[in-house]
Amino acid sequence: MSKQVLITGGAGFVGSHLADGLLEAGHEVRILDDLTPQVHQNGLPDYLSRDVELIVGDVRDPNRVREVLRGVDVVFHFAATVGVGQSMYEISRYMSVNTQGTAELLQAMLDAKYTPEKLIVASSMSIYGEGSYVCSECGQHAAPPVRSLAKLRSGEWNLQCEACSGLLRPLPTREDKPSEINSVYALSKRDQEQLCLIYGRNYGIPVTALRFFNIYGTRQALSNPYTGVAAVFASRMLNGKSPLVFEDGDQMRDFVSIHDIVQANLLAMERPESDGEVINVGSGTPISIRHVAELLADALGQERAPVITNKFRAGDIRHCYADISKARRLLGYEPRISHEQGFRELAEWLGGQEAEDKAEVMLKELSTFGLTA
Ligand SMILES: NC(=O)c1ccc[n+]([C@@H]2O[C@H](COP(=O)([O-])OP(=O)(O)OC[C@H]3O[C@@H](n4cnc5c(N)ncnc54)[C@H](O)[C@@H]3O)[C@@H](O)[C@H]2O)c1
Repeated sequence: MSKQVLITGGAGFVGSHLADGLLEAGHEVRILDDLTPQVHQNGLPDYLSRDVELIVGDVRDPNRVREVLRGVDVVFHFAATVGVGQSMYEISRYMSVNTQGTAELLQAMLDAKYTPEKLIVASSMSIYGEGSYVCSECGQHAAPPVRSLAKLRSGEWNLQCEACSGLLRPLPTREDKPSEINSVYALSKRDQEQLCLIYGRNYGIPVTALRFFNIYGTRQALSNPYTGVAAVFASRMLNGKSPLVFEDGDQMRDFVSIHDIVQANLLAMERPESDGEVINVGSGTPISIRHVAELLADALGQERAPVITNKFRAGDIRHCYADISKARRLLGYEPRISHEQGFRELAEWLGGQEAEDKAEVMLKELSTFGLTA
């Protein structure tokens, strides 16, 4: 049955793809988005479907929110300021948009006595901090804290077992791993997630928090150098430069195609099994950052080896990738896009974009605040 769906932040990368998926499935889509200049340098993005109802406004504006909630069955709350590094020196903006923005959205729902059939909130793998590990020597499982500045400065990238000093080997990270908050962005994402879940439990609204891992795909904001390492690498290569890889490049992440993210969101909307749950959404296939750079070079037809800088960013984690068995079990989710396929699509799209390379601007800003070395 067709539903009226609201996506906050729906003009962005993830929201606009979800909007297309919802329209294709026969739903009606309304978007509340303030068209943040860092993301939408040229104003209204031309990829946005004409079939969506776009209301330009801030999620922190209660009157606007009350207006957009009218007649809505399902809410996807995606509006956020996105970027781990930047959040460390734009503290008040990140907490205001993400934490306060979510509080305002929920307050407006309550004041308007509005009860959606379902609320889905975009959470993030960043709230885990380091992923899960097991010791390769003594077999003990570990959830270590992030590496100290002293360790990073001495180039000790890998983590060691506290019990026997053996090398810790990464494992897929499950939802029950306690979060280890390590950036303002992560704190604000956990706030968004927890505020929505608390609200849902207390007011009887089915809420699902989807913890997205590293999403890549067309429409990634190239004007925003703080997000999307895949797009940052590709933009550099399209500008004739090699991608700059922190540490030794062997750090593992979970890069998931935007198409699989849309799939998971549509399933979460339909499946009552996901009510009240937090669920990882990743590709289920870990990949090193160095390999990401190599696959992208292949996809772009370049023979450009990544530059392994052996530099670090304060607070960066070594490894974290998703255990997606809960998404499989509760949502019936199955990733369909391989890294080769997905990066090829990203490369083709980037070829037609003005891929401005902003990586150095970002590095300079981080360095000004002593957040990289
Ligand atoms: N892209 C990823 O890899 C990733 C990973 C984990 C979680 N997430 C989460 O997914 C969601 C979508 O991310 P994205 O990659 O599409 O980001 P994006 O920056 O492309 O989209 C965010 C959208 O929110 C809008 N927005 C920002 N502040 C707003 C405000 N105050 N009021 C209304 N709209 C506002 C922006 O204009 C933008 O269109 C975010 O909540 C993000 O934290 C993304």
